[in-house]
Amino acid sequence: MILCGEFFYHGRIVYCCVEIEDGLIVNVKRDLKGKEVKGVILPAGIDVHVHFRDFKESHKETIESGSLSALYGGVCLVVDQPNTNPPIVDVDTYFKRMEIAKRKTFIDYSLNLGLTEDNVDEIDKMLNVIERVYRVPAVGEVFLNKVGYDTLKKAKSKIRKLITVHAEDPNEGDVESEIKAVENCLKIGDFHFCHISTADALNLIYDSSSTSEVTPHHLLFSKNDVPFDVNPPLREIKDRVELIKNFWKIDILASDHAPHTLEEKREGAPGFPGVETLYPIFFYMVKRGYVRINDLVEKFAINPARIFGFDRYGEIDVGKYANFAVFDPKMERPIRAKELHSKAGWTIYENLMAIFPKEVYIRGEKVLEDGEVLVDGGFGRVIRKNSKF
Ligand code: NCD
Repeated sequence: MILCGEFFYHGRIVYCCVEIEDGLIVNVKRDLKGKEVKGVILPAGIDVHVHFRDFKESHKETIESGSLSALYGGVCLVVDQPNTNPPIVDVDTYFKRMEIAKRKTFIDYSLNLGLTEDNVDEIDKMLNVIERVYRVPAVGEVFLNKVGYDTLKKAKSKIRKLITVHAEDPNEGDVESEIKAVENCLKIGDFHFCHISTADALNLIYDSSSTSEVTPHHLLFSKNDVPFDVNPPLREIKDRVELIKNFWKIDILASDHAPHTLEEKREGAPGFPGVETLYPIFFYMVKRGYVRINDLVEKFAINPARIFGFDRYGEIDVGKYANFAVFDPKMERPIRAKELHSKAGWTIYENLMAIFPKEVYIRGEKVLEDGEVLVDGGFGRVIRKNSKF
């Protein structure tokens, strides 16, 4: 199959044709003859921080509903987080969840293994067993209030795998506690820092060999803009302005998609859904000139693939999967919670302008067109060890 159109290729939008075989791009040329695709064709997004709940919290979200929401947002691959109920801190639960994912996920799916004080002594052995079958993208997400620095140090001495850390103490949550936590972690080694919310912490990470992730909500909202809680908390306007000024230093944009029902939110459950709206909001900002298209693709496709080791994802090039999100710049519209697909049913982005993808391709197959999903749950693949991934 050959698709022709305006592709994001080697750092710019150029008209070319991509030849696809078995889901992989095998050739990119100007002068091939193929099916014309209209719109701006970007690599489909990779969201490295989602909470798809399921298990005993299926009323909030399931792998099926979360991955459907992701697909509508132009995302082809997620990294799900292990703070589920029950949590992913042992081999059996890891395998059980991957079985659900195999049957239900609309898009490609991977899962971090949780680290605790109780499993740190076994973490290397557990990884060995799981990685006979699946590829674990990272050990995380580490909550520093539950997993002390000594445990983190021990984990670092036992495994070479990427470790993702929450640089926050939810009991404190202030700006200083984030900066302090980053400083302390950097003394131990390299980490991937989830949802960084301050420019000072971002700068510390930028000057190290660790990597950073920032959410749209910490860039777009300040403290009093949203009546709900999130970890880390939304900051003062001056902190947010500093973070925006340092946007270019961010390695990864990730949603921290953390769905709860409205009732649970009123009772104080922290977290916002966001996997469906990240690419659409930022593509709209690209159109308006607030964000460079290269920055968006780098932070939501290229860097996530590089940092989490998804070799065949993140770029439109020979040897990569034909995973595309196609945007029509004219199709801007306000975000409406009732039109989104997360079970949460609400969004902090209500009424913000966005451009949702018109088409999405996964491994060359058109999976979404004009608001209609063309595949069933289970179409997506789980990331396996020793496969082509
Ligand atoms: C996360 C969740 O709901 O799983 N919520 C959030 O506000 N980011 C957990 C957490 O990080 O506290």
